[in-house]
Amino acid sequence: MKKNILCIGAGYVGGPTMAMIALKCPDRRITVVDINAARIAAWNSSELPIYEPGLDEVVAQCRGRNLFFSTDVEKGIVESDIIFVSVNTPTKTFGRGAGCAADLQYWEQTARQIRRCAKSDKIVVEKSTLPVRTATAMTRILSAERTEVHFEVLSNPEFLAEGTAIEDLRHPDRVLVGGGDTPEGRAAVAELVDIYAAWVPRERILTTNVWSSELSKLTANAFLAQRVSSINAISELCEATGADVDEVSRAIGMDSRIGPKFIKAGVGFGGSCFKKDILNLVYLCETYGLTQAAAYWRGVVAFNDHQQERFVSRILRAMFNTVAGKRVALFGFAFKADTGDTRESPAIAIARMLCEERASVVVTDPKALPAVARDLADCADRVTVEPDPYKAAEGADCIAVTTDWKVFRDLDYDRIYASMRKPAFLFDGRNLLDREALFKTGFNVYSVGRSPLTHLD
Ligand SMILES: NC(=O)c1ccc[n+]([C@@H]2O[C@H](COP(=O)([O-])OP(=O)(O)OC[C@H]3O[C@@H](n4cnc5c(N)ncnc54)[C@H](O)[C@@H]3O)[C@@H](O)[C@H]2O)c1
Repeated sequence: MKKNILCIGAGYVGGPTMAMIALKCPDRRITVVDINAARIAAWNSSELPIYEPGLDEVVAQCRGRNLFFSTDVEKGIVESDIIFVSVNTPTKTFGRGAGCAADLQYWEQTARQIRRCAKSDKIVVEKSTLPVRTATAMTRILSAERTEVHFEVLSNPEFLAEGTAIEDLRHPDRVLVGGGDTPEGRAAVAELVDIYAAWVPRERILTTNVWSSELSKLTANAFLAQRVSSINAISELCEATGADVDEVSRAIGMDSRIGPKFIKAGVGFGGSCFKKDILNLVYLCETYGLTQAAAYWRGVVAFNDHQQERFVSRILRAMFNTVAGKRVALFGFAFKADTGDTRESPAIAIARMLCEERASVVVTDPKALPAVARDLADCADRVTVEPDPYKAAEGADCIAVTTDWKVFRDLDYDRIYASMRKPAFLFDGRNLLDREALFKTGFNVYSVGRSPLTHLD
């Protein structure tokens, strides 16, 4: 009989990942557990707790057949043979390494619970992103006191991107499995490889030692974020010199050594992972005394913050050095298109800076509005939400595009312009819109890394 799978942590990674395994391995029973009862209730309802294109359909096919969501973590542990751990590993907010190191408390609680409840041998799979060498700590916790149950720890980091999670899971660039170089380790790796091989071509399933696997995930995110900060640094130079960053991106992206992806200038990266994982890398470097390496990676995060500040400074400068009392329509609150996730979204920092300048901020977003009250609680008196972008822009002095939702591209900007206060400004923080057309409509248009198009000489 095929082994039962459990996933602890029903979040953005645990839910979609297990749904895909359930879809592709119908002969396996997969249970996803979480301590958050509301989240589990949502996974069991028609309103899933996260928005991902294509996710509803996959869950609908598998739920109740071989995919189950539950709050009974203990029972799940007892009944499973392979346990994926996909709990959150946020940045530590207290004590040593605060603001930099990974907070491993949820991770460790899970390890202890697995040890306490397990009655038979388990393969424990690190799905969460973790500092290199966490598997050693995991093995030590799992092996403390008891000897009759064997735990084999593997690393299997997740490379999906929110917004395209289902496509990424269906056709991954690669699946990475790290395991120990022992007979038990090799057998466990083979079992996990076997699961993915149900739909992923073998040559795309890489096996490495555990440390390489753990470090590869941090490195992948660091490289992706570094590309964003690199092109954003060039965008600043473009604004100063009259070069056009989109033209520069196209020109360099055609170089096969560079490639076209992740070199789009904008308001910077967001999401729960990039900043956290780079800071984690910084902390690891510092722990090993590698101060230059730490400073190098810290710079990537620092530039991202600078890019957001710069975006707001440009708004201020363009709008006669004040936005106090002005209505700013913020187009987008999610950290990227096609997700409702707002963790570390640039829109949050930008909205907050605008509120500090006493603007009245109206936020519109197709999926992320429920998060606004929580994320901007500290400036609630200056912020309102409006699901309809046309209404959000009505009477506004400016629009600031902060998320690259396609719906924003398809709006009738003549109608929007007509309803705004004049002079009307548009700050395109994602270089999403047709700036020439907007300029012709009458807008004063500011894109990132390009000279402004204004009627205001
Ligand atoms: N979000 C992404 O795009 C992404 C991509 C790749 C990797 N990752 C990594 O995957 C991990 C999970 O990320 P996420 O975005 O899914 O996080 P998340 O916060 O959406 O989900 C984590 C879930 O774990 C649950 N949890 C915490 N402690 C628990 C416990 N002791 N028992 C049971 N459940 C518990 C929480 O209630 C939460 O629902 C992180 O390490 C993250 O870095 C995330």
